[in-house]
Amino acid sequence: MSEKVYILGIESSCDDTAAAVLCNNVVLSNVIAGQKIHEAYGGVVPELASRAHQQHIVPVVEAALKQAGIKKSELNAIAFTQGPGLLGSLLVGASFAKGMAKGLGIPALGIHHMQGHILVHFIDDANEQSPDFPFLALTISGGHTQIVQVDNYFEMTILGETIDDAIGEAFDKSGKLLHLGYPAGPEMDRRAKLGNPNAFQFTKPKVDGLNFSFSGLKTAILHFIQKETKVNPNFIDQNINDICASIQNTIVEIVMDKLEIATRETGIKHIAIGGGVSANSGIREAIKSGEARFGWTTYLPKFEYTTDNAAMIGICGYLKLITGTADSDQLEVSARLKF
Ligand code: KG4
Ligand code: ZN
Repeated sequence: MSEKVYILGIESSCDDTAAAVLCNNVVLSNVIAGQKIHEAYGGVVPELASRAHQQHIVPVVEAALKQAGIKKSELNAIAFTQGPGLLGSLLVGASFAKGMAKGLGIPALGIHHMQGHILVHFIDDANEQSPDFPFLALTISGGHTQIVQVDNYFEMTILGETIDDAIGEAFDKSGKLLHLGYPAGPEMDRRAKLGNPNAFQFTKPKVDGLNFSFSGLKTAILHFIQKETKVNPNFIDQNINDICASIQNTIVEIVMDKLEIATRETGIKHIAIGGGVSANSGIREAIKSGEARFGWTTYLPKFEYTTDNAAMIGICGYLKLITGTADSDQLEVSARLKF
């Protein structure tokens, strides 16, 4: 293998079509086309998502190559998201990646989306320094909530995960009740900064071990809103920032309680976060505060590497190549791909 390896990463697991070009662990371009169409439906509509991916994939890949200043013929491999995700969406990215790789005579590399959110930390400029093994990864997104023990690049064990809604759904579904639009996470975060986190109390779920549960919180918030708006129809408008701050505070406490248990049980104090919800300012601050409170070393990715992107898929491709762990016989997409 030449010293410099050029990798094209393609991500299409949900509603963002993304392509990135990396030279080894350095990102040369990172292009994302979102899909506004789902906002009107208050959630991702799978059929519309796959159609939009078909429209976006060629221009997005062309833009990524152009911005990187790389010709297709210079690529050494193409990494694509193999799962988990929406089947139709995954198929668009995977078929494109496999076809292009075949045409160029280079390997196609199937990547696990959640491993991408974790290994994004090994991109050169993702944070000040990459995590040391072993570390704990908190992967928090619209589809997942997991605490993962990472012993090596592709040696990961899920220690705990949600038994119902993902943490992103807790933000998005409670935000929907407050008419914050979709996805509500970023707006909830913005408003939480302006409100009092202790204004309202929501009961935290009691779940054994390192698993999470968020569906009860959503129901508690629904009942709370129904009760308050019966007394005061303008309750939401008059208290929106305090409500957002209180919901976010409850979610932050749930996450911190579990991380504390995980660090105690494993003795591992290196903590990395990833996934769309790792952009949340309350979660970032709380995790960072663990450095002083519990002696943790924390790794918070740059914002452009938190929500779905293809740089995280490209870095996994690079790490597969240098560790010799690419499996060219296992390239079928799977909506429920396991580690
Ligand atoms: O990783 P991601 O882009 O897609 C999935 O793989 O799910 O995560 C999307 C999720 C959405 O639920 C969105 O509301 C949430 O990330 N999100 C946030 C913030 N930014 C994005 N949630 C809370 N605070 C934020 N700042
Ligand atoms: Zn994601």
